[in-house]
Amino acid sequence: MSVAAMPKDVSRPDSGNNKTLVEINGLRRVFDLSKPWLNRLIEGGGKVTLTAVDGVDFAIREGETYALVGESGSGKSTIAKMTVGLLRPSAGSVTIGGTDVWGSKDAEGMRAMRRQIQMIFQDPFASLNPRWRVRAIIEEPIKAFDLISDAKDRGERVGELLSLVGLDPRDGQKFPHEFSGGQRQRIAIARALASNPRFIVCDEPTSALDVSVQAQVLNLLRDLQERLGLTYLFISHNLAVVRHVATRVGVLYLGRLVEEAPARELFASPQHPYTKMLLEAVPDIEMGGSERQSIAGEIPNPVNPPPGCHFHPRCPQAMDHCSRDIPPVYHVGAANVRCHLFGDAKRSAR
Ligand SMILES: Nc1ncnc2c1ncn2[C@@H]1O[C@H](COP(=O)(O)OP(=O)(O)OP(=O)(O)O)[C@@H](O)[C@H]1O
Ligand SMILES: [Mg+2]
Repeated sequence: MSVAAMPKDVSRPDSGNNKTLVEINGLRRVFDLSKPWLNRLIEGGGKVTLTAVDGVDFAIREGETYALVGESGSGKSTIAKMTVGLLRPSAGSVTIGGTDVWGSKDAEGMRAMRRQIQMIFQDPFASLNPRWRVRAIIEEPIKAFDLISDAKDRGERVGELLSLVGLDPRDGQKFPHEFSGGQRQRIAIARALASNPRFIVCDEPTSALDVSVQAQVLNLLRDLQERLGLTYLFISHNLAVVRHVATRVGVLYLGRLVEEAPARELFASPQHPYTKMLLEAVPDIEMGGSERQSIAGEIPNPVNPPPGCHFHPRCPQAMDHCSRDIPPVYHVGAANVRCHLFGDAKRSAR
């Protein structure tokens, strides 16, 4: 079954009262795109910077799937990399299970925390070493974290992990090129599970796969979440996929979260004009699976984003001050919305 053909009412309930596992506060990342200093001196031209992530706050509760959505270039992967410790934030913090990913001086605590975080990438062809047998690929985190010292026990564990993701334990002898795209993503998932993580960041995990296998991989991720009590940060530009997996959704636009809500509420009653526009563009199976309406306007150049609310040039409801003032975050029902239209609502503490 393709993702587009999945039943309509698949959005998942918010887990409600679970403990917070991941906390992201004031996260910001600026990239310096300037030419080297000497070139600037000779050729002229000033510093050029790009703010890829601009003050993002959110929290993920244990067992939840928090989905980040947004068009290409909105900052999704940059947030993912800062969350798992691959890219240093320019400002702000990431706390996982009480440990500050970027600020902790406790080496032992950091090592324990790193074992608990894994990432699955979009392209299973690029993320697996083509010269290694699958067994060696899956074994690597087990060795890196000294989890099982006996080689025979490690081999058994690799077999168990392969079975867990729906592959044959004997597949460990093969090389990545002997598998299909969907199977390779299963191998990447097995590798991610090898260190017994609590939290997995999935960056577009099914976008490179054939539509026919996307749903299988998504269902596998859901089953594993239930069996192993995993927490996910799930990144996708595809709202049909997000609807299938998310418990909570954050909508990004040019590095800022413009709306955040439990998945059910977001899909049933989107508040921000940008969220509404994204939902309008979701392929609708009842209308023949065709795109209903494409998203109006172009994404502005992130080096020089529109002032005030970044979305105002594309917004059908823009008002005068939208081009001047950055909107604060307002509570609207179950959602947090960064939009001047809700100026009468209660401001969020975030
Ligand atoms: N290393 C880098 N150096 C300079 N600019 C970067 C770097 N990484 C990302 N960017 C810029 O930051 C912005 C956000 O990029 P990011 O990859 O996080 O977007 P994304 O939402 O993941 O997009 P996509 O859906 O295409 O994967 C983009 O404008 C991108 O060009
Ligand atoms: Mg990306």
